[in-house]
Amino acid sequence: MFSTRRLVLTYTQPYDKNKLGVRKRKEKRQITPERGIFLFFVFFNNKKRVYIMSNSSDNKIKSGYLLADVDLYTNIVISITNLCNLSCGYCIRGSGPIIKEFLSFKTVKNILNFIKSRNSGNRQILQLTGGEVFLHKDIFNIIKYALSLGFLVRIQTNGILLPSLKQNELELLSDKNIVLKISLDGWDEETHEFYRGKKTFKKVLRGLICIRKITSQIGLKTVIHEKNFSKIHKMLDLCLSLNIKSWSHNILKQGGRCLNKNTITELDVLEKLIPYYNKTKYRKMLGGSNVLIYYLLNYQRLNSLPIYYFVHSNGNVYLTDNVTDKNKVGSVKEDFKKLFCLKNSEIIPSRRVDSKILEYVESKLLI
Ligand SMILES: C[S@@+](CC[C@H](N)C(=O)[O-])C[C@H]1O[C@@H](n2cnc3c(N)ncnc32)[C@H](O)[C@@H]1O
Ligand code: SF4
Repeated sequence: MFSTRRLVLTYTQPYDKNKLGVRKRKEKRQITPERGIFLFFVFFNNKKRVYIMSNSSDNKIKSGYLLADVDLYTNIVISITNLCNLSCGYCIRGSGPIIKEFLSFKTVKNILNFIKSRNSGNRQILQLTGGEVFLHKDIFNIIKYALSLGFLVRIQTNGILLPSLKQNELELLSDKNIVLKISLDGWDEETHEFYRGKKTFKKVLRGLICIRKITSQIGLKTVIHEKNFSKIHKMLDLCLSLNIKSWSHNILKQGGRCLNKNTITELDVLEKLIPYYNKTKYRKMLGGSNVLIYYLLNYQRLNSLPIYYFVHSNGNVYLTDNVTDKNKVGSVKEDFKKLFCLKNSEIIPSRRVDSKILEYVESKLLI
């Protein structure tokens, strides 16, 4: 995971937010960072502070654009199929039961081999999504192959098929390098099923209870919309009651089957959530949440979210899962050397986070 390069951090005073230093400490501390982003935890007056940093091949700590270059090979998202057992009213991919788009195991292997070959020592993350990944006949071969290459595998699923998996398949999902992200949009039938369809709430809960016996590496992901927004903190309570450690959200986006224009903003959501994260009871839910990400971005003045390649189940490749002509970089049918080797400085502005959001989080979040 770590390169052999050593980096000496000398803590500087006065504390300068524009520099990637950290607060004054008496001792020098040596750490060996991986190239790219790393999180750095400091215990200061018994309070844990989290820092995000990046370093380059010449070992100078840098921020900003460098991060994006590094991230292009650190994260890859592959939508292996557009087939789905559900037909959610808002599905941005337009997935459903009659669509039959699959990326073959061979294609996925080729992509992973190539991305792996571009890696400079980072821990790489593969996110598998769809459609519903557990409808792909080779899903477990894909997972095994990615693990054998050293990827951390994140699986985005609606959770409904988990109870129907065989024992050996469930056991594979208990690998410590697998994280399951399960979509749950509400704390009851009314809120969850509003877009995701009737009789789905209990099925997802059944899936969650089944997989929780096998692994604790589970997170919930919620699309925030007009039906669940006003009491969205109830998702945190639900996670606590189910002993789920991480929760993240998307806000409803137009596209695919989703024609509704959403009026909820990221700031609206943060205003609702931060008072909860500031309570001891909910603080442990902060890991993995959008709130922490915004906090960390602002902390080091990196106001862009990372960029990554997204491979669509039809073989087209995009920068990020924003599947637009502007973001399309080619297709997996082309030469990978040309496809996955972009300079991305012109793409970065589209990943900028509004500075109001960053400032709001930093001023209100008590960590
Ligand atoms: C397309 S789904 C595929 C994976 C799996 N079927 C699932 O639902 O988790 C990936 C993620 O996109 C989210 N999503 C789908 N349509 C969306 C929309 N219109 N706006 C925001 N997020 C959306 C889903 O809730 C899910 O978390
Ligand atoms: S959001 Fe996920 S579960 Fe719902 S239709 Fe789309 S792919 Fe299927």
